[in-house]
Amino acid sequence: MDNERGSFSRVGFILAAAGSAVGLGNLWKFPYTVGENGGGLFVMVYLASVIIIALPVLIAEITIGRYTGKNPVGAFNAIKPGSPWKLVGYLGVASGFMILSFYAVVAGATVGYFFKAITGQFKGMTGDAAGSMYTNFTSNSWLQIFLLAVFIFLTVYVVSRGVSGGIEKFSKILMPALFCILILLLFRSLTLKDASKGIEFYLKPDLKALKPKLIIEAMTQAFFSLSLGMGTMITYGSYVSKKENLATAAGWIALFDTGIALLAGFIIFPAIFSQGMDPAQGSGAMFNVLPVLFAKMPGGVIFGPLFFLLLSIAALTSTISILEVPVAFAIDEKKWNRKLAAIVIGSMAFIIGIPCALFPGFMSLWVQIWGGFALSIGALFIALFVGFAWKTSDARHERKVGGGGLRLAPVWAVAIRFVAPILILLILLGSFL
Ligand code: TRP
Repeated sequence: MDNERGSFSRVGFILAAAGSAVGLGNLWKFPYTVGENGGGLFVMVYLASVIIIALPVLIAEITIGRYTGKNPVGAFNAIKPGSPWKLVGYLGVASGFMILSFYAVVAGATVGYFFKAITGQFKGMTGDAAGSMYTNFTSNSWLQIFLLAVFIFLTVYVVSRGVSGGIEKFSKILMPALFCILILLLFRSLTLKDASKGIEFYLKPDLKALKPKLIIEAMTQAFFSLSLGMGTMITYGSYVSKKENLATAAGWIALFDTGIALLAGFIIFPAIFSQGMDPAQGSGAMFNVLPVLFAKMPGGVIFGPLFFLLLSIAALTSTISILEVPVAFAIDEKKWNRKLAAIVIGSMAFIIGIPCALFPGFMSLWVQIWGGFALSIGALFIALFVGFAWKTSDARHERKVGGGGLRLAPVWAVAIRFVAPILILLILLGSFL
């Protein structure tokens, strides 16, 4: 492998891929999406989507990546030279820009909240006060743009230093630290007054909530949370050694990511209900409720800033993996050097991010199109590609290189050829009708 690309060490890959997967998708997007879709039923459909649809796609992406050792465009081209399949790769590169642009705005907000926390602004916080704090914060245009710029800068900095140097190191300390602080938050939230109402909302399926919108949002949330459908996992797979057992790695990544998302719900919903807030309040939920929790928590002055710091880093390990896709494309296909690619592409994402930072309506449209629809299309074509264009037997052979994990190979073959594409197609069609 040439120097411009770099590669991961053995555990490094699981850590880096989990670092990509775990981020704002788990702590910010998952809880508010659960809230908007009526609670428990969404959680069940989400879990089913992760296992039946997303996990097979995750294995497929990593396998394509390692087999070809390339970015998404190069990878499709390597397996089916000169075919239109590389358009799927281009869609991924484009989605990369677009997702980075809105994601970095929310990530910038976590940095902003870190400063609020460390300067003691959560003191004595109530639900109402936290709500107006968030409104004031998001309507401060210059601050939003500034924080967006800060976050894009951090992402560009890490990506320009290369995969093994930059990305691995961050993930190693981050995961355990984030997990510990989430457990503390969990205890505080579960012991609040009326916590059980939140738990009931979160776990008890209400069949009245069943709508096409719920199913499509559950599926796209599974893709978003596991970083699927735009080639992030193809790109990360391209840095994996042939010794790695891909199916096992995929299983761990999905388990970590889903565990953290579920944990986030157990923190957010009891807190929402104990404050008498609306669970369907939308994308501000996390920012409206956590300051209250920290204010009510012994040691909250320390844990508040620590949490937002860790969350910012978790978001950074995700934005890195998003920017890495167009950067790997520019390095492999356009022969740019890594640094130039990171700076140019990062600046473009910053420009597209400005309207997201200024107009909440634009932001939610962008989340829907690029963070949802485009990923489903991408995942659909990745499944069809591995299942039919590239024979699953070749893909199985590639997985065998790492040894083990083959007992379930026939199950995976059926899942990636039939179950996943048919379900994705039906769900997409259902949401149009
Ligand atoms: N999965 C990340 C999160 O949950 C976000 C992310 C990183 C992503 N890379 C991606 C989403 C690729 C979609 C596609 O925060």
